[in-house]
Amino acid sequence: MRATFDFNGARVFVFGGTSGINLGVAQCFARAGATVGVASRSQDKVDAAVATLGAGAKGYALDVRDPEAAAEAMADWGETDVLISGAAGNFPAPAVAMSPNGFKSVVDIDLLGSFHVMKAAFPHLKKPGSTVIHISAPQAQVAMAMQSHVCAAKAGVDMLTKCLALEWGPAGVRVNASSPGPIDNTEGRDRLAPSEEAKAAVTKSVPLRRHGQAEEIGQACLWLASDAAAYVSGAILPVDGGWLAAGVPLDLTKMG
Ligand code: COA
Ligand code: NAP
Repeated sequence: MRATFDFNGARVFVFGGTSGINLGVAQCFARAGATVGVASRSQDKVDAAVATLGAGAKGYALDVRDPEAAAEAMADWGETDVLISGAAGNFPAPAVAMSPNGFKSVVDIDLLGSFHVMKAAFPHLKKPGSTVIHISAPQAQVAMAMQSHVCAAKAGVDMLTKCLALEWGPAGVRVNASSPGPIDNTEGRDRLAPSEEAKAAVTKSVPLRRHGQAEEIGQACLWLASDAAAYVSGAILPVDGGWLAAGVPLDLTKMG
C-alpha cells in the first residue's frame, strides 16, 4: 500500500510513535513527505524509530506522565501541523486482581498522558489549519472483561477528543480520534491474544475476518489530517474491519 496524500512541508509529531501502530502511522506520514518527530520512554526505541523516519526526523525520550517533559519536547520541536497522541499501556487483568497502582498506571499513561501532550502541544499547533489525532481503542465504547482500566481510560480519551474539538475548533484546530481494530504484529494485540488459538479467535470475531495492519491506521490518519477531511472534527473513526459495529465479540476470560 502506498501513501496517497501529500504532506510535503508538514511537521508531524507522534507521542508513543516508536513501535507498533504509532510507528506505522509515523512512517506513513514520513513517506507522504512530512518531517516527523516521535517521543517515548526508551531512548533505544526512540533512536531506532528516528532512523526509519527520513530527513529531519527527531526523537525525544520522555514519559507522557511527566507534563514538563512533554512541554519541553514540544517547545524544542516547535511548529506542528499534525499532533498524534498514541502512548498507551495495557495488560489483561480482572479488576479484583489489579492493584490501585496497576489501574492508575494505565489511566495515567492513556488519559492523563493524552491531556499532558495536548496541553504541551497547543501553543505550537498551527492556527488555523492543524489537526490532532488520538489513537483510541474499541474498549472506549465496548465494555470488556479484564480491561476495566483500559476501558475507563480510553473512554476518557474519546471524551477528551470531543471536548477539545469544541474548545479548539474556533482556533481552526480539528481534533479527532482513530479507533483501531486488532492490528497484526503489535504489542497490544499480543498482550490480549498471546496464543495462536487466541489470535485465530480474534480473526474470527472481526467481520472482515482478518487482522488490520499498522499501515491501515496510518492511511486513516493521513486522511483525517488531510484537506479531504477539512470539515471532520470531534469524530471517532473506527478502522477495524467492522469490529465495533459487531460489538467487539471477544471474551478475554477465555483467551489463553
Ligand atoms: N497484571 C496485574 N497488574 C499488573 C500487570 C499485570 N499483567 N502488569 C503490571 N501491573 C501492575 C504492577 O504490579 C504495578 O502495580 P503495583 O505497584 O501495585 O505492583 C503497576 O501495574 C505498574 O507497573 P509498572 O511495571 O511499575 O509500571 P510501568 O509504569 O513501568 O509500566 C505498564 C506501565 C504496566 C502499563 C506496562 O505494561 C507498560 O509499560 N506498557 C507499555 C506497552 C504496552 O502496554 N503496549 C500495549 C499498548 S495497547
Ligand atoms: P506499542 O507498540 O506498545 O505502542 C505503545 C507506544 O507508546 C510505544 O512506542 C511505547 O514506547 C509508548 N509508551 C508507552 N508508555 C509510555 C509512556 N508512559 N510515555 C511515553 N511513551 C509511552 O503498542 P500498540 O499495540 O502498537 O498500541 C499503540 C496504540 O494503539 C495504543 O494507543 C493502543 O491503545 C492502540 N490500539 C492498539 C490495538 C492493537 O491491536 N495493538 C488496538 C486498538 C488500539 P516506550 O516503551 O519506549 O515508552
